[in-house]
Amino acid sequence: MRRKIIAGNWKMNKNLEEGLSLASEVTNMAADEVPNDVTMVMCTPAIHLSAVSTTTKDSSNVFVGAQNMSEYESGAYTGDLSGNMVASTGATFVIIGHSERREYHFETNAQLAQRVKLALSIGLTPIFCCGESLKTREANEHIDFVNKQLDESLFDLSAEDIKKIVIAYEPIWAIGTGVTASSEQAQEMHRSIRSFIATQYTHEVAKEISILYGGSMKPGNAQELLSQPDVDGGLIGGASLKARDFIDIAKSY
Ligand code: PGA
Repeated sequence: MRRKIIAGNWKMNKNLEEGLSLASEVTNMAADEVPNDVTMVMCTPAIHLSAVSTTTKDSSNVFVGAQNMSEYESGAYTGDLSGNMVASTGATFVIIGHSERREYHFETNAQLAQRVKLALSIGLTPIFCCGESLKTREANEHIDFVNKQLDESLFDLSAEDIKKIVIAYEPIWAIGTGVTASSEQAQEMHRSIRSFIATQYTHEVAKEISILYGGSMKPGNAQELLSQPDVDGGLIGGASLKARDFIDIAKSY
């Protein structure tokens, strides 16, 4: 059975003290309020991973993730973060290919394919992001665009390995804008992603993969989005910075 996952992407927000306070609030509230079959992940700035992992270590359903990692194992890459470093902090997830990194750091599908493979080889769970711009959607090319992202970054994986990844569909026009995809738009794309995976692998494989929706998800719209049959969770930016909102989204299942 695929997992229900509510992941928070803190982006470049919260200093260490603020981050630790948010992490302990989320961990405590999750213990009291969130059903155990919902996995929660906090993707924090890299510099907080170790401390936040200590905060969550006794939790049964709150985990920690990085927001990015290098495609190289180690070496002379000043300022970069290796997968091994991420895993050594106690973090178990890593976002790969967020649209902000694709745009501002020119990350390519080929580079992201290497990162996904490396993350899996280290035992990290990649949260692989895909999604189209408004221009692409208006040209009615969104399905082809997302298929190409999946094809070029994921389809070299074995059936065993692709089952271990999490996909986040995040339409760029909905990220941080307050505009959410309608539940029909989200379901259409999630179903399309799942059937594209099924054509490359099998239905059994496609059924195992959690596909999260991301883009202005908040307590007020989470239930509607999460009730769609192919929406298995959310990747939440802004609303993950407030413990109450993040927990309320996780309770929307
Ligand atoms: P948002 O961000 O929830 O603030 O739109 C989502 C994301 O970028 O992962």
